[in-house]
Amino acid sequence: MRVTWNAFQDFKHEGLVKSIGVANFLPHHFAALEGEVPVIDQIEYHIGYLQEEAFAYCKEHDILVEGWAALGRAELLQSATVQTMAATYQVNPAQLCLRFCLQQGVLPLVKSADEQRMRLNRDVFSFTITAADMEKLKSVGQVAWSGEHPDKAIPLDPAD
Ligand SMILES: NC(=O)c1ccc[n+]([C@@H]2O[C@H](COP(=O)([O-])OP(=O)(O)OC[C@H]3O[C@@H](n4cnc5c(N)ncnc54)[C@H](OP(=O)(O)O)[C@@H]3O)[C@@H](O)[C@H]2O)c1
Repeated sequence: MRVTWNAFQDFKHEGLVKSIGVANFLPHHFAALEGEVPVIDQIEYHIGYLQEEAFAYCKEHDILVEGWAALGRAELLQSATVQTMAATYQVNPAQLCLRFCLQQGVLPLVKSADEQRMRLNRDVFSFTITAADMEKLKSVGQVAWSGEHPDKAIPLDPAD
């Protein structure tokens, strides 16, 4: 990972890219990097899977969290808590999930192959989730986790 990160930094110094970041890094992975701090860490993040340690680490080091599977691969849309709360805000459950990320300071990464749903997913700026409701959403137990864990994919030997 160190070799890759050094190559990324070279790309930036050569002006080939503007910003460099990482994906699926947990706090212990960052220690392996030398030089620049990544601008972004793309991790699984959604209601029901908040990765609090990685989130806190990124916040402390001014690293933007980009949350992949912001809808929990659509599984979250079946959650009774999400559905009920979305109805009170008169929005779609997907919009509630995406708005939750934004209010957490997380950039949601959502995928849709459907144009109408893409439009709906970007229409998340006309309502605000109250602080009390944010707390309710944060306290939902683990839901819709992908089952993927970075330590299964990222080498723990930094020289790799
Ligand atoms: N860095 C990583 O390791 C990593 C790992 C996994 C995923 N990702 C990236 O994260 C992105 C999103 O992940 P994901 O696709 O697994 O999960 P996701 O965005 O949470 O869920 C996608 C699913 O939600 C449906 N959907 C989207 N908008 C909807 C809406 N408004 N209403 C109802 N259903 C809706 C989609 O169906 P339709 O297409 O039919 O709308 C699709 O089945 C992908 O682009 C992926 O490349 C990154």
